[in-house]
Amino acid sequence: MTRTTALFLIILSLSAGFPADASSTGHTADPLLLRAARGETVERTPVWMMRQAGRHMKAYRDLTSRYPTFRQRSETSEISKEISLQPFFAYGVDAVIMFSDILTPLPAMGIEFEISEGGKIIIEPIRSSEEFTARMKRIDVETACPFVGKVLGDLREEVGNRATIIGFIGLPFTLGSYVVEGQTGLANGFAQVRRLSRENPKLFHSILSLISDNITDYACYQIMSGAQVIQCFDSWAGHIDADDYSQFALPYQKKVISTIKKRHPDTPIIIYVAPGKFSTDGKRLAELAMTGADIISIDHTVDFATARNIVPDHVGIQGNLDPKVLRDGPLEKIRERTERIFAQADRDACGRPHIMNLGHGIEPDTPEANAAFFIKTVQEYQRPINAGK
Ligand code: CP3
Repeated sequence: MTRTTALFLIILSLSAGFPADASSTGHTADPLLLRAARGETVERTPVWMMRQAGRHMKAYRDLTSRYPTFRQRSETSEISKEISLQPFFAYGVDAVIMFSDILTPLPAMGIEFEISEGGKIIIEPIRSSEEFTARMKRIDVETACPFVGKVLGDLREEVGNRATIIGFIGLPFTLGSYVVEGQTGLANGFAQVRRLSRENPKLFHSILSLISDNITDYACYQIMSGAQVIQCFDSWAGHIDADDYSQFALPYQKKVISTIKKRHPDTPIIIYVAPGKFSTDGKRLAELAMTGADIISIDHTVDFATARNIVPDHVGIQGNLDPKVLRDGPLEKIRERTERIFAQADRDACGRPHIMNLGHGIEPDTPEANAAFFIKTVQEYQRPINAGK
């Protein structure tokens, strides 16, 4: 074989992508974000956006007239795959997150749910021991959510090493809040959660424990099916005070993450809590650093430099452009804010992993041109010569 033919074959195999298990057989390098998440030195900072697959994209909105319900779109693997790939093809993001929801495994636990087009969630709540015993159960993920396994496997095959496939779960407090409230707790200040945790903490713990075991299995199923990184959302844990957090959020975050790690030590885990009364300005970062997650996804209410000082050096940071800045622009402001994050992240002499992202999900009315500009700005960013000094 001539040198030219060999080179041609290498290029051909790289551009064709590889089957799902190729990275473990050593045929090719792992994708950028996965390597960064593992703490390897990488050629540039990877970037993606929470909620990137969804309402802000015209391609998604067009699809909703053909497939009208959220559950249909997220529970049919072909449609979910198409939606998951929309931001990858449009912006070249470094991660493809499966199009699904944190609520998706609930029916397999005995909790049916509906999401209206306006995003309103309806669940028949669990508020008594009788309801808990009669309705909630352990899940068998293999038979309960086959569409999730299928979409993850298909995404790995389609994307190859061009991007990292991200799976995700809702952590027990946040999922439990939907189960107890029967809707989003944001609507009434988590009133039912507060009541149950005072009047019957034992029942609340039983609900949280069962959810823990279920979503741990569910995360492992996602990893076996093709997810290369798992993001754990405890979005609403910032709405409870330090005492409740230490009882009803932190122990379950630790348990879920340590069990996934025990079963899949090489899969990086990211944890995220949304801005809430008790989590803004980095108020829960110290606790998040105790969960065993490899990376903390910080919200936009904390300055990156402040976060860096709270989060221990061995824990990576994801984030944290303000989604409203991305939505409202102008482009110059998006560039300036993004470069400010880079400048602060670069001062980490320890070489801590950084994944660029937003501080919360992309706003549904964000112009696609702004999202495209943000991704391009990150991917083309040239570090100043003396960065890191
Ligand atoms: O936003 C967060 O804090 C992330 C955690 C979270 C997800 N779903 C992850 C998600 C939460 C809290 C939910 C619940 C949920 N699901 C809500 C919020 C309701 C409330 O309490 O106010 C809503 C509106 C849904 C329904 C839903 N899920 C829609 C409309 C979409 C499409 C994306 C969009 O926002 O347009 C989803 C997808 C979804 N939810 C993803 C994830 C990780 C997958 C896609 C992605 O991240 O790109």
